[in-house]
Amino acid sequence: MNAIRFFPLRVLALIVAVFTVLIFGKSGGEAYQIRDPENCKLHFTVLSDVHTEAINEPRSRAIVESLQRVTQCETKNDAILYLGDSTTNAQYIENLIFHGLNRLLLRDETIIPVLGNHDAGNGEGNPDLYMHRWYRFVNAFYDIKLDHPYYYKVIKGYYFIVLGSEVNTVGEGVISDEQFTWLEETLALAAESGKPAFVLFHFPPNCVMDENMEITNRLTEILSDYYKEHDVFYLCGHYHFSLNLGTFRIQNGFPQVYTPSLTRLSSDDPPAMDEQTGEGIEIEVYEDSVLMRGRNFRLCQWVYENGRPVERSYALKTPIAD
Ligand SMILES: [Fe+2]
Repeated sequence: MNAIRFFPLRVLALIVAVFTVLIFGKSGGEAYQIRDPENCKLHFTVLSDVHTEAINEPRSRAIVESLQRVTQCETKNDAILYLGDSTTNAQYIENLIFHGLNRLLLRDETIIPVLGNHDAGNGEGNPDLYMHRWYRFVNAFYDIKLDHPYYYKVIKGYYFIVLGSEVNTVGEGVISDEQFTWLEETLALAAESGKPAFVLFHFPPNCVMDENMEITNRLTEILSDYYKEHDVFYLCGHYHFSLNLGTFRIQNGFPQVYTPSLTRLSSDDPPAMDEQTGEGIEIEVYEDSVLMRGRNFRLCQWVYENGRPVERSYALKTPIAD
């Protein structure tokens, strides 16, 4: 039923994506491999703040080149995560390009999208319209049924718990009581799985705009309490930090990961393609650890800082049984 309902949208997006790739695509790029494919139980790619725009040549080139290379891992990814701000102005055409490119270039991948402030209008315009536009595209393109911005997906028994701001603010994520209750219930399910859980939110837990700290405190309390006995990793975007050793932290009592912007052009006018454009993170789960590695997908390179690889291995509290 859904396939028929969304057919015109998918066809239109595919046509837009084909033209985008014809104009901006660049073939080639080396295949890459995870650290220990024989013993890896799950691995996935984390991207954020793609900021698709209708007319922005360097940005479009950066997106297409990066996505063309994300799938070049010799051991197929179990998922591709987008941590929000996939579009810049929440426009229909931006959604067509972004989701169309996913359909065209990542068609065999399991995609987990997160709503960002820019996907909901960035504090301007009609947020209800933009959020419903986002749901409509997500429902049409991925195996997800959304009418609110939070949901979870289980892949190989691992919980990916997606949070979403319910108010269209610019700098802070607003989480309702219902969503907090849902988060606690979903974490309880994840605890039963005996496997690490991944909590995805566009906003870092310590958002500077959360002036009264209520949301920050409640969120960090839930996650730090959970992390006392179970494994959980909080993955966010929003800040557009470039990759460095500070990307992977333990803060507020639980692991936090600050994912860079894939296009990293926002401060430039006109935007320029620099060596940090194309950055994302590869996460590999092993029996007793989770390894996170900074990678520049566009340049087909692991990322180094002063000669040291930008990576961190987190020991698991509970070794994974199967
Ligand atoms: Fe952003």
